[in-house]
Amino acid sequence: MRMTTPSNSKPAGNEPFKITPAERMSRLPTYLFARINSVLYQKRRAGEDVIDLGMGNPSEPPHELVIEKLVEAARNPLNHGYSQSIGILNLRREVAGKYLRKHGVRLDPEKEVVVCLGSKEGFSHMCLALMGPGDTALVPAPYFPAHVFAVALASGNCITLEVADSDKFLANIEYSCKHLHPRPKLLIINYPHNPSGVTVDPQFFVEVVKLAKKYGFMVISDSAYADVAFDGYQPPSFLAAPGAIDVGVEFTTMSKGYNMAGWRVGFACGNQEMLKALATIKAYYDYGMFQAIQIAAIMALRNTEAAVESQAKLYQRRRDVLCEGLRRIGWDPTPPRAGMFVWAKIPEKYLTNMDTLQFAMKLLEEGGVAASPGTGFGPAGEGYLRLALVENENRLRQAVRQIGRCLDADTKGSTATKNVVDDGNAVADSGKSTSAT
Ligand SMILES: Cc1ncc(COP(=O)(O)O)c(C=O)c1O
Repeated sequence: MRMTTPSNSKPAGNEPFKITPAERMSRLPTYLFARINSVLYQKRRAGEDVIDLGMGNPSEPPHELVIEKLVEAARNPLNHGYSQSIGILNLRREVAGKYLRKHGVRLDPEKEVVVCLGSKEGFSHMCLALMGPGDTALVPAPYFPAHVFAVALASGNCITLEVADSDKFLANIEYSCKHLHPRPKLLIINYPHNPSGVTVDPQFFVEVVKLAKKYGFMVISDSAYADVAFDGYQPPSFLAAPGAIDVGVEFTTMSKGYNMAGWRVGFACGNQEMLKALATIKAYYDYGMFQAIQIAAIMALRNTEAAVESQAKLYQRRRDVLCEGLRRIGWDPTPPRAGMFVWAKIPEKYLTNMDTLQFAMKLLEEGGVAASPGTGFGPAGEGYLRLALVENENRLRQAVRQIGRCLDADTKGSTATKNVVDDGNAVADSGKSTSAT
């Protein structure tokens, strides 16, 4: 058989074989967390204790009933074949049931619910199904990086709009629609918002639907933190707004409230045409989720709502401990009413000779605390630090002490503060890694 030389490689010789990734790879923004991750990894390898408040990776396991169901389902030989790419009907029914109970939203589980391998997979493939060269998406700023990466990988452009003030956000959507040609094709919204913790009330979504209908854009609502809310606040569903199902879909996940991040269970619900497009793309890429996981997910949705509520209370207590601690060392964080993060403005005096990334590196290197620099979520995050509530209360108190000491040492002219765990109650490091999650 005659072999041809691949177009991207030189004929055999002494030169190294050249790998040429596709052009779309170069469209991905720089991954700002890489440096932090690498230092964190080195510290861990050197046996140092690092308090990791970087990633929104839950620290508790799923409910025991759910694990038992997974084991039982894994023992059934019938559950080991390829499953349905859009998820088994009983799981889709359970998701529809939760929407009805929680939000009064009636969904057809046959056509209006798709199971995804985590919501990130779902919305990334949804962007691939909806966007192409020349298309523009409006994305909140600061942004959850995957929202921007998903649009970039689909060859679309992103326009970021500041999310802090919801009325201004709505006004900016309208302004963009009036002045951009062609008009934006897609709006991505994310409430409770990661990283800023901004939340909205139901009327906000009513306004979004009105704008979508007026200007003809589709909507993806990412509601990853819908199950983690505090002080009696209930994050509303976009799909509960009248007419929302005509213009958009909503993604939810079992990663956060159910502590099932590694299981990769997410859902897309809403507009049938959009879901059909997602299902078509998914059918080319995956064969669906391991059926035993889907069965255990049904058990979780049906029987562990009380555990989801107590998990949220745990995050609420951690929020209070962290915010109180930060206040004691002179910061002024706004306690979020939902989500897994405190989005704290770094006191300006610390940023006179360094930027936010350098500040986060300093806390890690000298203070032994990993947190996400705000700029990892785009330029709108400059001046902020995102701290995840994924360590226990004692470790959070310890983290604040270490941050305080590290910054104190600086103002007293000392060079570095050694990270020593001096709290007898602090527990062992959990071995997680920091990233933009
Ligand atoms: C805003 C937001 N959306 C989606 C995700 C991804 O969740 P999943 O685990 O369902 O892919 C995350 C994860 O941190 C997130 O913060």
